[in-house]
Amino acid sequence: MEKTVIELFAGVGGFRCGLNKVELKNEKVSENGNWKFVWANQWEPATKSQEAYECYAKRFGSDDVSNVDIFEVDKKKIPNHTLLVGGFPCQDYSVARTLSGSKGLEGKKGVLWWAIVDTIKAKKPPFLFLENVDRLLLSPASQRGRDFGMILRSLYDNGYAVQWRVINAGEYGEPQKRRRTYIVAYHKSTKYYEQMKKLNMKDIIVKDGIFAKQFPVKPEELDYNMANVSKSMYKDLADVSDNFQTQFYNAGVMCDGKIYTAKMESDCNDIYPLKKIRETGEVADKYFLSDEKIEKFRYLKGSKRIPRKKPNGDPYMYSEGAMAFPDNLEAPARTMLTSESGLSRMSHVIEDNKTSKLRLLTPLECERINGFPDNWTNTGMTDKRRYFMMGNALVVGVVAKIGIELEKIIDNED
Ligand SMILES: C[S@@+](CC[C@H](N)C(=O)[O-])C[C@H]1O[C@@H](n2cnc3c(N)ncnc32)[C@H](O)[C@@H]1O
Repeated sequence: MEKTVIELFAGVGGFRCGLNKVELKNEKVSENGNWKFVWANQWEPATKSQEAYECYAKRFGSDDVSNVDIFEVDKKKIPNHTLLVGGFPCQDYSVARTLSGSKGLEGKKGVLWWAIVDTIKAKKPPFLFLENVDRLLLSPASQRGRDFGMILRSLYDNGYAVQWRVINAGEYGEPQKRRRTYIVAYHKSTKYYEQMKKLNMKDIIVKDGIFAKQFPVKPEELDYNMANVSKSMYKDLADVSDNFQTQFYNAGVMCDGKIYTAKMESDCNDIYPLKKIRETGEVADKYFLSDEKIEKFRYLKGSKRIPRKKPNGDPYMYSEGAMAFPDNLEAPARTMLTSESGLSRMSHVIEDNKTSKLRLLTPLECERINGFPDNWTNTGMTDKRRYFMMGNALVVGVVAKIGIELEKIIDNED
């Protein structure tokens, strides 16, 4: 089996950087892995400018990168591939039966998950490697677990088994405490599927599965749950959409529609402190904070109780606790958001290495927090967009580790 990959929702190429241990030196990119990226798609619907695409195309070349809405892509024309990767957003995955019944089921328009489903229907890749936010497992609040149930059911309908884990990168030696759901799916036709099918589902989570091998967990389950999304329980996707509800935990397996999910704790003592990625030389003035801004940040990050009104007019007291100010340099960074560096409670504020004065993270430090090569997004976009790209991206080191296991698995296929 060839190690061919397509990257959907490619952004600035976090999956590719991780799988191929990409380096950037004097504007020259070297890909040091064995994965052959045969196609990528990236299109930003919210802006006319396409900086993420431009960055991807500048770094990797524009030949096999498409910059159109994924819904406009004829999925049959996508090159054949062994592995489909992509970080898709958490949206509403519910579906309704169409009134006429002729079209079958209809998901909400613009929901990117259905573009992934269309691609796997057309191309049947043996392996998928996906990433999403941690709350995917819990949403929506009114029907806990339905959205992830929909994902599992669509993968089951297309012949896949699944392993997932919510990984806090900071608990496994990465410089950011970013918690994300990682999903690996493998088709019934693979040897890996046959191998996993024979194992006890708990053992897959604790020791034998793709995640346990790189992200060790303590052997005791803090809680567990079982569920089933197969045809024997739910007639079709619309039935899952209307009726499925369950408690998903941070680790799990789905095979033949049967789900086993467990609450696991990390078993790793590697800490990557924020201070290690801090720029050591002189940092431009624009990143330093005026006294006025320092006071504003102090307020935003402090504990407070504010009287507010609910939409129906009833008063309530909004309260929030204090956050470290400035940020703790001995711990990994907190999760970086797309709004990083704005005057907001969630932006990092650190003590500068040279001057000890307070300042924001630089775009380069944000790239380091995600494990991208230095200056990866320095491709002509503004600082604000560079922060945005990194807030959207993922921790490259997590992808690299999962990639090691995927490579072993694929090497073992015919
Ligand atoms: C969560 S980000 C993924 C970031 C990526 N993993 C990285 O490392 O940079 C999702 C991406 O999907 C893109 N996107 C959103 N809607 C899209 C659509 N309809 N077609 C193609 N791409 C889309 C966004 O522009 C964004 O870059």
